[in-house]
Amino acid sequence: MNTTRKIGIYNNKGGVAKTTSVINLAYAFAKKGKRILVVDCDYQENCFSFFFSNQSTKGIFDTDYDGISHTTWEKYTSLDVDTSINEFDYIIFDLPPALSEEVKQIIKHLDAVYVPTMLGEFEIQGLTKVTDEINNQGTKLGGIFVTMYQAKNDKELIEEFRNVLKERLMNSVIPYSTTVRESQKVGLPIEAYFIERNVPKIGTSWKIVNAYESLAAEILKEVEA
Ligand SMILES: Nc1ncnc2c1ncn2[C@@H]1O[C@H](COP(=O)(O)OP(=O)(O)OP(=O)(O)O)[C@@H](O)[C@H]1O
Ligand SMILES: [Mg+2]
Repeated sequence: MNTTRKIGIYNNKGGVAKTTSVINLAYAFAKKGKRILVVDCDYQENCFSFFFSNQSTKGIFDTDYDGISHTTWEKYTSLDVDTSINEFDYIIFDLPPALSEEVKQIIKHLDAVYVPTMLGEFEIQGLTKVTDEINNQGTKLGGIFVTMYQAKNDKELIEEFRNVLKERLMNSVIPYSTTVRESQKVGLPIEAYFIERNVPKIGTSWKIVNAYESLAAEILKEVEA
């Protein structure tokens, strides 16, 4: 039986940390021993260039990380999917900030979609449209999670948000961290960046790594329930 799970990270709002979440979730899943294929569905190819390597077998590329492979949507669609993807536990799709027919088709073939959002007014306003569209495609909304959370601005807002969204809002909250850009500048997932720089696991720096680990655990628990 094929137990490969396909999950998407999607919001049609741009810049809400879809790609950042795909990269760091892939790293967190791989740490838990899962075999991951990341599929970049965005023509910006941020994810594909982040993981880029020359080593590939039949359109599936290696990365520098054990347990993580990657490809693009275009290459994925020309794979012999049944034989090529069976070896993965999870396929994580990095979707573009758009709601095109292609995006709808991608969403339709997923098992669940997770929606990152910031707590800005425009982001919150746009959420119903996003969740309705996931629903229209007959795909499960895995949950909504807050990214780039800053206590000084967002503390009250997140409580209101939780009252409205109830269990659709995931418990894990991804904090704002200047490390995200620094790590992306040198092409490393956040934890790999901390390890390379010997950043001690005290203080607040590792908070974001723990948050992505907790998000990965929430997703695993739900998807494998
Ligand atoms: N937790 C965070 N703290 C600080 N900056 C962050 C955080 N997450 C993401 N960023 C930064 O926010 C910007 C947008 O992130 P990202 O590219 O992951 O969003 P996206 O939703 O994939 O964007 P797009 O819609 O263009 O695909 C990037 O510059 C990234 O480095
Ligand atoms: Mg992106």
